[in-house]
Amino acid sequence: MLTQKAQEWALGVQEKLTGKMKTVVERSRNIVPYTTENGRFIDLTEKDINWWTNGFWGGILWQLYTLTADPMYKEEAEILEKKLDRVLMDWTGLDHDNGFKWLPTSVAHYRIDQNEESKNRAIIAANNLAGRFNLAGHFIRAWNDWGDVDRRGMAIIDCMMNLPLLYWAADVTGDPRFYQIAVAHADTAMRCFVREDGSVNHILRFDPKSGELVESLGGQGYAVGSSWTRGQTWGLYGFTLSYLHTKDERYLNTARRIAHYFIANIPENGLIPVDFRQPVEVTWEDSTAAAIAACGLIELSKAVGGRDGDIYLNAALRLLKTLDEQRVSWDPETDYLLEKCTAAYHDEKHEFSIIYGDYYFLEAILKLTGKELFIW
Ligand code: GLY
Repeated sequence: MLTQKAQEWALGVQEKLTGKMKTVVERSRNIVPYTTENGRFIDLTEKDINWWTNGFWGGILWQLYTLTADPMYKEEAEILEKKLDRVLMDWTGLDHDNGFKWLPTSVAHYRIDQNEESKNRAIIAANNLAGRFNLAGHFIRAWNDWGDVDRRGMAIIDCMMNLPLLYWAADVTGDPRFYQIAVAHADTAMRCFVREDGSVNHILRFDPKSGELVESLGGQGYAVGSSWTRGQTWGLYGFTLSYLHTKDERYLNTARRIAHYFIANIPENGLIPVDFRQPVEVTWEDSTAAAIAACGLIELSKAVGGRDGDIYLNAALRLLKTLDEQRVSWDPETDYLLEKCTAAYHDEKHEFSIIYGDYYFLEAILKLTGKELFIW
């Protein structure tokens, strides 16, 4: 249970967030942000409208609208949602990340006011996601081909976070196929991605014709067999969400195993590295992993309750307090919240601002204050 002191702290952070984000949104109109340059958002509307993170700004805006009822947030969220229609009309922009794009935008909008246009968009996205299911291997294909390597048999742990689009579509349409595909993928992920110690693989390659598992790839982490921290959090939060949607205890236990591994690996300073198995001399961090883990741990804590629930909640609080004190820019002149986010270990650039880090930090705080719009 949240202590009164922790509740007061969370309310204080919520107040800081509403103050800063009002200033940020007032000067950041009509944009699709991913990262910043000199503290200001770069707009991806023309640069890369298909990018997988383009729904998160919508998530921030709908959360702020739910919290404050300020129409500015709704107007901006609707602008972003319409911009993503270009993606719906381009098959190369549609992939397993349809969940990340349309859950925080159209589904969030639909949850708020049962908007029929939003429902239409999200069901189209869900149908496309369901269509990526490989019948032989029982997995959802992650990406399309970009002309370099064969991606027909690739599945990734991140996809666990996209399954809620299918659970939502099953509820809204009454068509059980969406649910069946989500569960079939979650079962494959549970069997193939989660290692004995509770850590998870990032990418697995299956033979797209026979469905046989071929190999594990290092993906965005340090190496094959290592432990990319954001991947651990997609698994932790993703299996928790599959439990919430299905009430299947196997998913809950899987989420708990991943959580135990994650908690055991949090460094003493509470700051999350890019990979739990990166060389000791490498200090690169990924604050997004801390924020996503906190969201997963809070939901897990509610699902489990009791003493174990307190362990998950306290781990989440530790992560969030560390971010608040050391990694959030509370300066109203910067558009971003989280510092030191990293997209991938082997990228040239590390430790910059990334929009989904900001989204999940906001979501985690609102979970604690009871003001969250449940998006997943
Ligand atoms: N889904 C890709 C990532 O987490 O970077």
